[in-house]
Amino acid sequence: MKRVKVSRKAHFNAAHRLYRKDWTDAQNEVHFGKCSNPHFHGHNYELIVSVTGDIDPDTGYVMDMKVLKDHIKAEVEDAFDHKNLNIEVPEFADLIPTAENIVVVIHQKLKKILTPGQELEVVLYETPRNFVSYSE
Ligand code: NI
Repeated sequence: MKRVKVSRKAHFNAAHRLYRKDWTDAQNEVHFGKCSNPHFHGHNYELIVSVTGDIDPDTGYVMDMKVLKDHIKAEVEDAFDHKNLNIEVPEFADLIPTAENIVVVIHQKLKKILTPGQELEVVLYETPRNFVSYSE
């Protein structure tokens, strides 16, 4: 079987603040710098979601890209876009919304679409130069 990786790009805009509730603003400033601004700040997040798997001989697809697109919209864009991640997104009520934690949350939300034998990779750009990835 030929294994092929198919990818879809998406994006969302969101605000966050990196801080620990049990630290003072000064302690948070030391560890998180400008990202700990108590008044929050925003990023234009860019996302690349990839599914690797066998080509289905019936369809010639690894995955119907329309299904992947709709799943990303429902699970990521509708849930995160124009939101304050700390306040409005339940997954970050007790989880610091670093790029690392966001990419793992997105992976958990998207992996339910996979069929056995498929692997999901999520790459998240917080800025054009800073990005993280997670695959499983
Ligand atoms: Ni930030």
